[in-house]
Amino acid sequence: MDSLNPTRRIAVYPGSFDPVTLGHMDIIRRAAKQFDKLIVAVLNNTSKNPLFTVEERKALLASATADLPNVEIDSFRDLLVRYMRTRNANVIIRGIRSVSDFEYELQMASTNHQLDSSIETIFMMTNPKYSYLSSSIVKEIAMFHGDVGELVPPEVEAALRAKFAAAPRADKRS
Ligand code: PNS
Repeated sequence: MDSLNPTRRIAVYPGSFDPVTLGHMDIIRRAAKQFDKLIVAVLNNTSKNPLFTVEERKALLASATADLPNVEIDSFRDLLVRYMRTRNANVIIRGIRSVSDFEYELQMASTNHQLDSSIETIFMMTNPKYSYLSSSIVKEIAMFHGDVGELVPPEVEAALRAKFAAAPRADKRS
């Protein structure tokens, strides 16, 4: 850290993380190297219908990032920029997988900049290996008892198996 600037560089990686994927994990690992502290912040959004509760999502993230000492897991139920002020953070990290992500991300970054111009959004390109990957795709595969072992951390794979254990397999349906 710059010794003339004792301010810690704190970034927030916000998202739904329902559930965290290896694409998210790639961004978390890389972003954690660039900041003194990275807060992975799960949006507690009552209007969505998530598969995992906020507490479950936080627990899965905490387990998957246990080897990263400067990563903290938190949740928020507020405007992101307002939450960030409470955490003394001024950088938002977002991953971009493809051109199709860009429009939505630009809209969010511009909105956040309008709300608080002291906050910067930094985009990181998702590892091309995971450019097709999303939490929705993972849930769909898991729902039909497909193999998600290459797509999510092991604890998430186990949690998905448990969630869908009671659901009938697609190939067993009449
Ligand atoms: O993983 P997601 O669902 O794409 O993440 C979206 C998220 C959580 C980053 C975004 O919805 C958000 O920041 N919501 C908080 C409310 C807010 O600040 N909205 C104004 C900026 S768009």
